[in-house]
Amino acid sequence: MSKVPVITVDGPSGTGKGTICGLLAEKLNWHLLDSGALYRVVALAAEQQSLSMDDEAALARLAATLDLKFENKGIGQDIVVIYEDKDITQAIRTEKCGNAASLVAALATVRESLLNRQREFRQLPGLIADGRDMGTIVFPDAELKVFLTASPAERAERRYKQLIGKGISVNLRDLSADIAERDKRDKERLVSPLIPAEDAIVIDTTKSDIEAVNKQILSLVGKRFTDLATFV
Ligand code: C5P
Repeated sequence: MSKVPVITVDGPSGTGKGTICGLLAEKLNWHLLDSGALYRVVALAAEQQSLSMDDEAALARLAATLDLKFENKGIGQDIVVIYEDKDITQAIRTEKCGNAASLVAALATVRESLLNRQREFRQLPGLIADGRDMGTIVFPDAELKVFLTASPAERAERRYKQLIGKGISVNLRDLSADIAERDKRDKERLVSPLIPAEDAIVIDTTKSDIEAVNKQILSLVGKRFTDLATFV
């Protein structure tokens, strides 16, 4: 049996990864993995259980046993995240939770605990995987790997608009500082640091809008998956 195809989209926050992955999943009618949401849920659950960020064993146990469901509501909609029967879709989207997620994400055993759960998303007809280490660690054999970048100022501006649009109040200066701190931690951590896979196609989105980036990626999809060429 041939393997299930995967397209990985990695990069720092504010590069438009989430939107691009949603559009690709919708267009191809493939499954979608928002791996960042997993780290965010671990961070939120750890806070609810008053676990210390230093207690790696407890955090890894928590990550391994999360009672978690994702429901894809379609284009332009956040994936609905249900943790222990509660809808935590909005609660995990704050910058505080994003920052805590990057702390738990630096722990090797937490990452290991989430590995299989991520790989289980690889189902027919295919998977779009959004994250930081999708192309390097989780799906190293992916057929197409994209790495999105953009200048820090542009990424902060995009995140600002995105959070305000969701009714989450933020201040641009604090947000820029948070993003810089999170990027540094994600790039410098010892396990699965944020770097493009050797065979990833790096796209700088600083001066492009979502439509242009989406078009560029769809053209890569058409070249890589010849059976989808007429479709995309
Ligand atoms: O993408 P998102 O902002 O939701 O990710 C939150 C945090 O989770 C990131 O800053 C990063 O530290 C971590 N993460 C990760 N590996 C992934 C996805 C997210 O380390 N594949």
